[in-house]
Amino acid sequence: MERTLVIVKPDAVQRHLIGRILHRLERKGLKIVALRMRPMDESLARKMYAEHQGKDFYEPLVAFVTAGAVVAMVVEGYDVISIVRSMVGSTFGPDAAPGTIRGDFGASRRYNLIHASDSPESARREIDLWFDDEDILEYEFLDDPWIYAAVDRE
Ligand code: PPS
Repeated sequence: MERTLVIVKPDAVQRHLIGRILHRLERKGLKIVALRMRPMDESLARKMYAEHQGKDFYEPLVAFVTAGAVVAMVVEGYDVISIVRSMVGSTFGPDAAPGTIRGDFGASRRYNLIHASDSPESARREIDLWFDDEDILEYEFLDDPWIYAAVDRE
């Protein structure tokens, strides 16, 4: 079982898209195991995107993600990192395939609605930035046996 960090960014919050994004994750069968709304302060933003420091988009990215409230969550499931990345789509809405979150809701090359961890290492690092261990819940869905077959769990 894997976990990933998902952030509904300030543009999506302002555009009333929190519910629609959460709904997509839920209807896929993924499990939200931690959830909080808060501003992303500058120091947290710089830690989140530290690997991009020095790139031309780094300062605008920090300005964008610190511009308003965000919703951060830990999402759990088998192969959840690649599943959520494929649901999110390419970096910017104009290039993202229809059916993806960015493809369906985004038209900007700066405001791109959502973040999702891109590897197990990033997921662990990012989850630790946002949540304490005791914030992350363990619980079962009654329909778990019908979301994953035995082959998915191997
Ligand atoms: S890279 O250089 O290929 O590693 O960059 P990429 O993986 O595409 O993006 C890394 C994060 O930076 C965001 N990004 C931008 N934000 C604002 N403006 C511009 N021009 C820009 N270019 C990249 C991108 O959305 C990634 O952040 P997250 O939060 O993971 O989506």
